[in-house]
Amino acid sequence: MINPGGFPQHVGIIMDGNGRWAEARGDRRTQGHLAGLQAAKRVVKAAAGMGIRYLTLYVFSTENWKRTAEEVGFIMGLVKQYLRSELEFYRENSIWLRYAGDSAGLPPDIAAEIKSVCNETAGADGIQVILALNYGGRNEIVRAVKRAALAGEDCSAINEAAIARYLDNPDVPDPDLIIRSAGEWRTSNFLLWEGAYAEYYVSSVLWPDWTEAELALAIETYQKRKRKFGGVS
Ligand code: FPP
Repeated sequence: MINPGGFPQHVGIIMDGNGRWAEARGDRRTQGHLAGLQAAKRVVKAAAGMGIRYLTLYVFSTENWKRTAEEVGFIMGLVKQYLRSELEFYRENSIWLRYAGDSAGLPPDIAAEIKSVCNETAGADGIQVILALNYGGRNEIVRAVKRAALAGEDCSAINEAAIARYLDNPDVPDPDLIIRSAGEWRTSNFLLWEGAYAEYYVSSVLWPDWTEAELALAIETYQKRKRKFGGVS
């Protein structure tokens, strides 16, 4: 049973297993991404209903460009089409859509669409959904350090708080819980800085099969953990 008092404020999800889900059905991998998009919608709605404030979804990493042109093109097309066509869904659920990643490395039309949809939903008072797209934790840290240097920060006085101010979304609290679907125990370059003290949860369920029940199980498990942040309980 979920404890209504102990919800994580920020949950990050590595949505893995789309390809395997499709291949198990004898389908093309792209069909898995299509089903993955529907799963993302179910989980966003469930997370919003539970009162989770921030949800970061790992949609496309800085390493995912190594995939075939067909698969990369399909995911980018899906993002572009989905972002705008779901405006009604964001409004109905008071969703504020935000972005994390290196937008300069995205196709310009996708970057422009993300910017415009983020602006249109900005300030919505429900869940904030952060799309990590062309995102890599190392890349984010490098960009933060570069921004700090360009802003004239005193390098000899640099500390953790100073770097954190230049991350992609400095106002968003660190994730409490990072979930990975499809049974792999890897961080895959996701929220390396912010996830320093996140609790990890790995589920063997492939991402396209995720429903509210899988999210509830992840949260129940999280609620049983003792968080010590390097201290003693
Ligand atoms: C990982 O599974 C999944 C991705 C790299 C793409 C994630 C994209 C979506 C879920 C669709 C878009 C969603 C939104 C919210 C815009 P994989 O392909 O690595 O699976 P595999 O390990 O089984 O091959």
